[in-house]
Amino acid sequence: MVRLLPSLLAADFANLERDIKKIENYADGLHLDIMDGQFVPNISFGIPVLKSLREITNMHFDTHLMIINPENYIENFAEFSNAITVHYEASTHLHRIVNQIKEKGCQAGVSLNPHTPVSVLEEILPELDKVLIMSVNPGFTGQKFIPSILLKVKKLKEMSEKLNPNLEIIVDGGVGEKNIKELFNNGANSFVVGAAVFHAENPEKAIKNLREIIDK
Ligand code: DX5
Ligand code: ZN
Repeated sequence: MVRLLPSLLAADFANLERDIKKIENYADGLHLDIMDGQFVPNISFGIPVLKSLREITNMHFDTHLMIINPENYIENFAEFSNAITVHYEASTHLHRIVNQIKEKGCQAGVSLNPHTPVSVLEEILPELDKVLIMSVNPGFTGQKFIPSILLKVKKLKEMSEKLNPNLEIIVDGGVGEKNIKELFNNGANSFVVGAAVFHAENPEKAIKNLREIIDK
């Protein structure tokens, strides 16, 4: 099953509910980018925003923590999330954090920055529900896709076939109609789409169009 996860970071922050309603029946979940101004050079939004959004939609909340010391915030984010992804680069005791996420009843994911090889996940891969491969340097919506990520996705797919065949392989950053099919062909089964959906004139149509491109 292919998943399309629009990123709220690309929505209009003065009209979050309006923008969520545009995609809620067509997307497979809402991707929530949490940035602390430390791990990444931007500050986005946090727990109170998730709490309010939880009241207006039943969408699957896919929370992506781009924060240092993520272990200190798992409990708070888990209350309003269905899945939580932490960065490998921000987690000294990754195994402990992954278990913390699962104990709170959420799916657990690990994200890799563009320079981090997939091989670092070999030991933890069987424990994970998802791996999120950053295809831009994290921090902002609307950045250019880094083409070398295609090979990285392929390598992760090969690893997952041996170690965790049900793994969700998510690509995040600069994904759109130009690269989604190739990413899918290389093994990705889940896609974060920010600008490609929320900056489109008709976000519903944009989602349908991306699905058609994958199905072709
Ligand atoms: C970037 C975030 C992404 C981003 C995706 O740091 O993790 O989720 O919002 O947006 P687009 O698809 O516009 O690159
Ligand atoms: Zn993200």
